[in-house]
Order: sequence, then C-alpha cells, then structure tokens
Amino acid sequence: MLEQIKQTAEYLQNRIKGEMPKLGIIMGTGLGTLSDLIEDKQIIPYSEIPNFPVSTVEGHSGNLIVGNLAGKRVIGMQGRFHYYEGYDMKQVTFPVRVMKALGVETLFVSNASGGMNKEFKVGDVMVITDHINFFPENPLRGKNYNELGTRFPAMTEAYSKKLVALADSIASEKGMRLMHGVYIGVTGPTFETPAEYECFRTMGADAVGMSTVPEVIVANHAGMTVFGISVITDLGGKEITEAPSHEEVQKAAVKAQPTVLALVHEMVARL
Ligand code: HPA
Repeated sequence: MLEQIKQTAEYLQNRIKGEMPKLGIIMGTGLGTLSDLIEDKQIIPYSEIPNFPVSTVEGHSGNLIVGNLAGKRVIGMQGRFHYYEGYDMKQVTFPVRVMKALGVETLFVSNASGGMNKEFKVGDVMVITDHINFFPENPLRGKNYNELGTRFPAMTEAYSKKLVALADSIASEKGMRLMHGVYIGVTGPTFETPAEYECFRTMGADAVGMSTVPEVIVANHAGMTVFGISVITDLGGKEITEAPSHEEVQKAAVKAQPTVLALVHEMVARL
C-alpha cells in the first residue's frame, strides 16, 4: 500500500501545475458542481491516475480537480468510491491517503443522507458533528503503517469543532438554516426499512448515508482536520410512507446545492 500511495502521489506531483493544495474536498452526490467554482483548474480523470479505482455510479463523474477556490489551492474529488459498489475499504479510502501524501491538511467531505431527526426537512443542510461507523469493517483493519498514523487513533474530535463553529457563524450571518447532527454510515445499497431508521435514531444518529465514514476515519488516522456536510435528501421513520429513490436523492441534493456551495465557498475564503 505504501508503494502505491507513493507512486500515485509522485504521478500527481508531476502532473499538477503550481503549488500543491493543502485543502482537499470530496464532492458527494449532487455537489459535483462545486468544481464549477474552482478557477484555473486542471481536470485529471481517475482513469488516468495509476492505482486509482474508477467510479461507476450514475451521477458521479470521476475526476480530480485541482485549482483555486476562493483564493485557496484545492484538490477536489468529483465522484467518490462507495463500499456498496464493491470496492474494499482500502480502495474507498485510497484517495485520502494520496491527498495526505500530496500535503493536504484539511479535508472537506459532503454527502447526501436520509434524515431521522424529527426537526429535519428534505433539503436541509446538516453540519456533521460526529459519526457512527456502522460499516461491517474499519478501513484501518490490518497492518498499521506507522508512517501513515498511529495503531489506535482517537476519534474524539473526528470533525473539527473549530470548523463547525466557522460554518455556524457564516450561516447566521447569511440567515441560512444550518442543522447539526450525527451521521451514521452504512453499506447500502438498500435504503433503510422504517424500523432501521427508527433504530438509528434511537442509537443517536440524525442522518444516515452510504459514504463518508471510511474516508473520515482515514483522514483522522492521517492527522487531517475534517469538516463534513450532509444534505438531507429524504426522511425516514415509521411515520414516513414515501419510498426514497436515487432520483429523488439526486434532485433534492441539486436543489440544496446553492446553499452548500455558498457556505463552503465562504468557509474556504476564511480558512
Ligand atoms: N439512507 C441511506 N443513504 C442515503 C439516504 C438514506 O435514506 N438518502 C441518501 N443517501
């Protein structure tokens, strides 16, 4: 794995023009248009990057985007690798390892999720304050490479409190409705049964989705500062009778996009 990370990082170092970014952004479902705000960009298809898996899901294009966002150098992932697609945890989190090797110190992640918190509405934007790993495995299982991080990393502040506070202050300035919550990561690809949504709510989660947790675990292992945002694209629970669909998730994510883009853009400007 170390050899692969090194090889991929070297390839990108040679290919990326200009200064290496210190900020990485994983642009989740429907939020790929953040890349439109990145200026002077270089688009590097995953298919051209050695050791990179290739994204397969509808609505996710697979490119690394390197450029300037709000005056900062950023490296963005347009499309991510999901566990439900069949990738293993090492593949899902490989790009985060590579970002770290390139010098990325701060990671922004975004996703779409189903809301269980009774105060949530479809289209709400939730800052992730913490997560529950409900995947059947942990991306750090197996041999630990001390060069990458410690054997038993703390997850006490998996999501930076400072960045949550920054998001809050921007939201209040802009009069933006910004929710807080715990994200529970599950494998999918099924959406949850009503009983499962209820179960996750009882466990202390506010939203459920099929990504993010593996990448955030690896980012913490690597000592990165993390900020996460979740768009509530559907609601779940025993009183919710509408069935969620991929199309509906995409539609709701696209609708919430301007809010998320404005927030992320302003946060990056103030980093
Ligand atoms: N469950 C799991 N993943 C999701 C959901 C959901 O309801 N909505 C968007 N991603």
